[in-house]
Amino acid sequence: MKSVIVLLGPPGSGKGTQGEMLSEKLGYTRLSTGDMLREAVRNGTELGLKAKGYMDSGALVPNDLIIGLMKEKIAQSKGGVILDGFPRTVEQADALAQQVEVDLALDLDVPDEELVNRLTKRRSCPGCNAVYHLVYNPPKAEGVCDKCGGQLYQRDDDKDETVKNRLNVYRENTMPLIGYYEKKGVLTVIEGTGSIDDIFAQVQKAVQ
Ligand code: AP5
Repeated sequence: MKSVIVLLGPPGSGKGTQGEMLSEKLGYTRLSTGDMLREAVRNGTELGLKAKGYMDSGALVPNDLIIGLMKEKIAQSKGGVILDGFPRTVEQADALAQQVEVDLALDLDVPDEELVNRLTKRRSCPGCNAVYHLVYNPPKAEGVCDKCGGQLYQRDDDKDETVKNRLNVYRENTMPLIGYYEKKGVLTVIEGTGSIDDIFAQVQKAVQ
């Protein structure tokens, strides 16, 4: 079993969905930078106020806001961790490498057309961060989270225009990490299209 797992993959590739399932299966802590930043925005903290503009436009939040925060969260976590959305730049990956060794980097490979379809029809829960899809993975009752009863909403950055920008930002800043982890010999590419359960079966194989 691996103790530090990085989830790579473009926006909408299923990092949150698979990360949550894997965290339950392995008993690892899932650390999602996106969830942490959205919570900071909701709570109006200093970090949230600084991050909001970047997130709404689909840009990355500056490295200096993220690296310290994640280093602290990783240090506080007991047992294995699943990093969802971090690292996202080579500078973040280098900073992570100074702290811990990454055992496995999983790249969820999904074509752009499917990503746009997934993101624009995603609905998220502000209470427990569960994600749904209006067609592929709908909640049992419309607009209500199955897990905690929270009122589902559409993320501001899941609107059409912002999604396109996020995909460009991913290509420019985050895609180089595929080669980065391949060189380190820890990369596994997962075919990210198909049913959520079929993809999870591949994910589980990769962590064995
Ligand atoms: P973040 O929240 O990390 O967004 P992201 O990487 O763009 O990823 P998403 O959450 O959009 O998608 P996902 O891959 O988790 O897919 P999901 O499982 O939800 O980051 C948001 C913002 O925060 C960034 O833009 C940036 O500004 C900032 N940020 C975060 N981290 C940062 C960092 N390290 N540095 C700098 N800035 C940072 O699935 C998507 C949808 O598809 C759902 O509806 C789901 O139900 C559905 N779905 C999942 N799997 C399947 C399937 N197999 N078939 C059909 N539908 C599926």
